Amino acid sequence: MRKRVILITGANGEVGQGLIRQLAQVPDRLPIIALDLRTLEPALLPMVEASIAGDILDANMLDRLTTEYEIDTIYHLAALLSTHSEFRPEAAHRVNVQGTVDMLHLAIEQARWRAQSVKFIFPSSIAVYGLPDLATKHQVGAVTEQTYLDPITMYGCNKLYAEHLGRYYMSHYRQLAAAPEEHGVDFRCVRFPGIISALTIPSGGTSDFAPEMIHAAAKGVPYACFVRPDAVIPFMTMPDAIKALLGLAKADKARLQRAVYNVSAFSLPAEQLAEQVVKYFPNAEIIYEPSAGRQRIIDSWPADMDDTAAHHDWDWEPDFDGEQAFRDYLVPTIRQQYA
Ligand code: SER
Repeated sequence: MRKRVILITGANGEVGQGLIRQLAQVPDRLPIIALDLRTLEPALLPMVEASIAGDILDANMLDRLTTEYEIDTIYHLAALLSTHSEFRPEAAHRVNVQGTVDMLHLAIEQARWRAQSVKFIFPSSIAVYGLPDLATKHQVGAVTEQTYLDPITMYGCNKLYAEHLGRYYMSHYRQLAAAPEEHGVDFRCVRFPGIISALTIPSGGTSDFAPEMIHAAAKGVPYACFVRPDAVIPFMTMPDAIKALLGLAKADKARLQRAVYNVSAFSLPAEQLAEQVVKYFPNAEIIYEPSAGRQRIIDSWPADMDDTAAHHDWDWEPDFDGEQAFRDYLVPTIRQQYA
């Protein structure tokens, strides 16, 4: 008998690490298989059944994985983020799109074998949006799931298409076959704003100015912010991001009206983030050296995301607004981390 497991791809990334820490505390959960290009952080190894160093594009590796394990739920987190993707757009497409197709295919094959659907939890991103100009951005405010889907980054295009792929594999896969699939992929997707973790620093994202600014202050090093003081997008803390993934994963399927849900917690311009940072770290040195390219990307992302559907369908509620995020999570956790 193969062991029933939860598979996490991109397990060693920021969200992966946060998810493993949180899942490890859930009683009676299935064992976790952590897949990433690099073996998992040593501190997390005791929390998982196995850490596999491998590429999601390696078909042989995936075959070996499914020979050994019955995969019940997949958290498919592996991705190249938005800034990195602009340096290597075709590589981003391979990882973000082909990698997702391969994982969806794996999920549907697993579902067929075990005669039970496989949950597929997927993080999408604010990057799927593309506002035409700053005036429109400020005028429209919080955007709903269906509007302004004209991304200007490879990453945003990849995530938007991956959302459609998930919906296709869930609801329309091989729709012309004589006998439709009886058991398939239960695809559930959250569109995240920028995420700020107190424990890890992101790499290759465009929302990175927020976490970078806070971590730099806590470490006592000066920070040059790569967007203008007025640059604004929504954010949430890593604990809230994990809460969203787990909340959607365990939501009652009958209540879910859509495959993709916006989630959001608070929107602050860079200068107000900096004010919070200085409030807690009065010696913080923050200057602004906007990069035209990264600024353009941030300007194309909405100032806020409307997450009414998530509130309504699966009782989504963030634990931290902007004030609470700093006071109750970021500052105490970061201080401890660098003490
Ligand atoms: N944080 C991501 C990025 O900046 C957005 O999903 O790429």
